[in-house]
This record gives sequence, C-alpha cells and structure tokens, in this order.
Amino acid sequence: MANILVTGAAGYIGGSVLTEFASQTTGPIKGSTLHAAVRTDEQVKAVSGPGVNAIQLDFSNQKAVTEAVLNNKIDIVVHTASSMVHSLSEMLLNALSERRKVSGEAVYFIQTGVLTAFADMGGWPYGQVKDSDQDIFEKEKGIGDQHPVRQTNIFIVERSKALGVTSYILPAPSVYGRGTGQWRKLSVSIPQYIRTSMRLRTVYKFPDDGAPPAAHISDLATLYTLLVTSILNHAAPPANEDGYYFPIAHRIPWHATMDLIASAMHARGLVDSPAARVWPSYERAADELGLPRLYVRAMGTSTGDIVAEKPFALGWRPEWDEEAKFLGAIEQEVRDVLEVDTVKPTVFAAIMD
Ligand SMILES: NC(=O)c1ccc[n+]([C@@H]2O[C@H](COP(=O)([O-])OP(=O)(O)OC[C@H]3O[C@@H](n4cnc5c(N)ncnc54)[C@H](OP(=O)(O)O)[C@@H]3O)[C@@H](O)[C@H]2O)c1
Repeated sequence: MANILVTGAAGYIGGSVLTEFASQTTGPIKGSTLHAAVRTDEQVKAVSGPGVNAIQLDFSNQKAVTEAVLNNKIDIVVHTASSMVHSLSEMLLNALSERRKVSGEAVYFIQTGVLTAFADMGGWPYGQVKDSDQDIFEKEKGIGDQHPVRQTNIFIVERSKALGVTSYILPAPSVYGRGTGQWRKLSVSIPQYIRTSMRLRTVYKFPDDGAPPAAHISDLATLYTLLVTSILNHAAPPANEDGYYFPIAHRIPWHATMDLIASAMHARGLVDSPAARVWPSYERAADELGLPRLYVRAMGTSTGDIVAEKPFALGWRPEWDEEAKFLGAIEQEVRDVLEVDTVKPTVFAAIMD
C-alpha cells in the first residue's frame, strides 16, 4: 500500500487534488494512504477527514520534513505548495532520497510549476515548445535567467537525478473553476480580477489581448490522478529531463472573458458599466491587482506557442473546453467569488516587490 503526500493541501490546487484522490472508488490510489501537508492548526482541522492524515509541516526545517516523510513512509510527493521557492522542493527531495535508502523502493516527486515560464512573455526565447520535445530541460537551463519558477524546475530535474528520485513537472496553466479542497477554493487570476473590479466598480482588461492556455481545476486534478495511477500501476511514464507534462485543455480569450465578466458583474449591480475598460498601464494593473509588476504582463496576456501532447498519451480527456463550457461559466466565476472567497490569497507572497 502506497503513501502519498500532497503539499499545499490547504491550497486551491493541492486541496482539489487531495479531494480527487480521496474520492477514488477504484484503482490503486483508493488503496493508498493520503497525507496532507498544511501550515496551520486550523488547516489541519479543516483538511483532516476520512482517509486523510493532515500534518502541520514546517518547510524551514529539513529534520521535520525528513521525519514526516520517513515516519509516514511516503513514496510519492505531489508538491503544490510552491513552484518558485526551490528550498521546499530541496527538502522534500532530500527526504524522499532518505526514504528510498530505507525502503529500497522507487520514490516519486511531482512538481506543480507555472506554464507561462514557457511563453515568450515569460522569457522563453525559443518559439514553439512541446512537452514531448527531448530538449526542454537543456533549453530551460540554457536561458540562464533568474526566473524563480525556471530555477526551481532546473533544480528539481538535476537534484532528483542526483538523488535517485523520479520527478515530474506539471506547469499549471491558467486554472479556473471552484476548487473542491477544504480550505482555499478559489484560483489566482480570475478571482483576483473580479475582486479588484468590485473594489473599483469597473472591470479593466489588459491593453493587449491574449489567449493563455487553461484548464478547469477538475480536469487538472484528473491529470494528477492519471499520473499517480500510472506510477502505482508500475507504469511510470518518462520522468526527470523527459518528465514535463503540460496540462493544457484549451485557451482562454482574455478580452472576451473580461467583457463577459463585466456584463455578469453589471447584471448583479457590482460594477457601473457592462463593458470592460482598458488598464492605463501594466504597472497600474499590477498595483491594483496586487500582482508582481515583473510578471503581470505574462500573467495577463501571454499566449505562448505551447503544445501539450504527453497528458493525452496518459489518457487525459479534459471535459472543459473554451466555447461550450468555459465561456458559459463566467457568471459562475463571479458567483464563486461572492460565495466562497473566504481565505486570503498568499501565492505571490514569496516574490512580491
Ligand atoms: N492557480 C493557478 O491558476 C496557477 C497557475 C499557474 C501556477 N500555479 C502554481 O501552482 C501552485 C499552487 O497554486 P494554488 O493556486 O493552489 O495556490 P494556493 O491556493 O496559494 O496554494 C498553495 C498552498 O501552499 C501553501 N504554502 C505556500 N507556501 C508555503 C510554504 N512556504 N510552506 C508550506 N506551505 C506553503 C499555502 O499555504 P497558506 O494557505 O497557508 O497560504 C497554500 O495552502 C503555486 O505554486 C502556483 O504558483 C497556480
């Protein structure tokens, strides 16, 4: 029986992945024990439940992380707590390596990254990138910039290889939809646009339009399930340098989306105009939205020539598409912010200027 640790389990992605794992009725995840790493007592209480062992884990303490992994006999870590602070990954990889020495069995690390790092606006200079390309890792390394997400990806591939850990990188696209975790239920960008629009009583869109890759949270969680199921079925797919999987279900047309948000919010009396206005500058947008100035343009408008192939080879069949589902669910995005916006976002705390 395997032991799976989900970090960031009080978060939007981690919480939803944990719920998805806990609700498996067939397959090897059902027979596994789930462990959930969170930061506070309150989160331990919220996340604990049938089949879930919640652990309050201090990521500034290697000894504590190693003990948690060894005491709970963790074989697989699904890491969603940080895509940009590599010390967290380092501690988990070190701990998994210790676990491998004790058990003599393979250990696995699944990183949640950020897909905009592979878009031109995110500093990717090579044009089109497919997750099936054999040279992604070398290309990432060749960029030589200080992008914290890229630095973390490179670190994970190199360190896991050195330590004998099998690693995967799933760079998250723009994720939307109501999360199913027990703590934070809202994603990063669309809810932040809605909150800010409410405060300013105006919906603003970025000067440039874009069509970033996206996935509904339920489809993203399904991909984690497929990957972990393959691992547990002793059919672990290509890993380490070849372990990039791009979870792209469809694209989001930003200007059309912001216009729909404006009309949905206006219908509820939350903003003064049914049409979106254009931000006077990206700096102003970053400041009003509380997003890092350095990354706001990439977050807001990057499209990127990014192609997903490997998730589909694992059997991924996303249910949410652009036309029939996403654009029809914008009203729901507004409702979600009104109904379940109970936990302050912290995702950019590590890199805010
Ligand atoms: N959501 C998206 O659309 C999206 C898109 C691209 C990439 N990503 C990346 O995916 C990851 C997960 O995103 P998310 O939307 O699920 O974010 P989230 O809701 O903020 O979840 C992250 C969780 O990790 C915890 N955490 C953060 N720093 C930690 C630390 N130093 N030690 C222990 N726990 C820590 C947070 O704890 P608290 O709850 O106590 O703050 C939170 O529960 C992030 O790295 C994000 O950059 C997300």
